[in-house]
Amino acid sequence: MNIGKELFGKTPAGTEVMLYTLRNRQNLTVKIITYGGIITGLQAPDKEGKTADVVLGFNTLEEYLGEHPYFGAIVGRYANRIAGGRFMLNGTEYKLAINEEKCHLHGGNTGFDKVVWDAEEIKSDKWVGVRMSYLSKDGEEGYPGNLRVTVTYQLNNQSELAVEYEAVTDKPTIINLTNHSYFNLNGEGSGDILGHEIMINAGKYTVVDENLLPTGEIAPVKGLPLDFTAAQVIGARIGELKGGYDHNYVLNKEEDDLSLAAWVRAPKSKRVMQVFTTQPGMQFYTSNFLDGTLKGKSGKPYGKHAAFCLETQHFPDSPNQESFPSTILNPGETYRQKTIFKFSV
Ligand code: GLA
Repeated sequence: MNIGKELFGKTPAGTEVMLYTLRNRQNLTVKIITYGGIITGLQAPDKEGKTADVVLGFNTLEEYLGEHPYFGAIVGRYANRIAGGRFMLNGTEYKLAINEEKCHLHGGNTGFDKVVWDAEEIKSDKWVGVRMSYLSKDGEEGYPGNLRVTVTYQLNNQSELAVEYEAVTDKPTIINLTNHSYFNLNGEGSGDILGHEIMINAGKYTVVDENLLPTGEIAPVKGLPLDFTAAQVIGARIGELKGGYDHNYVLNKEEDDLSLAAWVRAPKSKRVMQVFTTQPGMQFYTSNFLDGTLKGKSGKPYGKHAAFCLETQHFPDSPNQESFPSTILNPGETYRQKTIFKFSV
């Protein structure tokens, strides 16, 4: 295993953005930049040992600085939606940016996907990685408390990419972090993912209204196109849903241990990705809003359903939904979550 570091580009303010490359014995390569903590590339071998880049993304910092739907990025302080862009905490109302129809989405106008993180390389017997850290100041994007966040990406020779999240605050606040990678296990730009087979280890989901905001109800997936408890191709019943999949699954799990949330297998390349997480939920999103306007690394347009996202997370709008697991972080506590993406054939 080894790790490389090079300059990726400079922001308009002149801040250097570094690119880290993690490589293991299986010829798996992960590229991560300090802007947004974005995974810009992930070369994974197929059954013949031929590698392809299985995440959507760009070649240049300029493109990442422009409009794009969170490709590969760390999302925070609150991944997913908060209804009305507001929440109450200990009797105080906090107002956040409304950056989507009637709600706050993915941390606001300048979320964790749009800041430059500090980074340090880490190396142990079994892992190589990069630890990113960021101080989100009290009041940033409307959220209370100085929040110190670290996100650690690590790769081992079993082709596990581990993403560990930690945060501490000096005032009560809310937090929900995820990584927003867009996967296509046949390779980015190779068409849609409707033929990929998926298993999602969840018997329930959080019901949403027409603005994708939770109603508070947690309902069984049984009988619905959302049921992937037995593996099924993504495209089998996608037509029954408006736009496609964009749903938060309530994962089957005991406590908050690291357990299997999903696996996906690509038809042609036979590449497999398993997702393990400590999180209670996972947003399954089939890139319904991609429309071919954005062109990726190999110059090919990214159309509708060009990728799928498995955003491990707490449930959307938890700060306004009393029955959902709490996303409150108090001073003296440490927020800790871990997700592993494991690649095989
Ligand atoms: C998440 C949301 C989607 C969409 C994408 C980004 O997956 O659930 O509705 O906003 O992020 O485009």
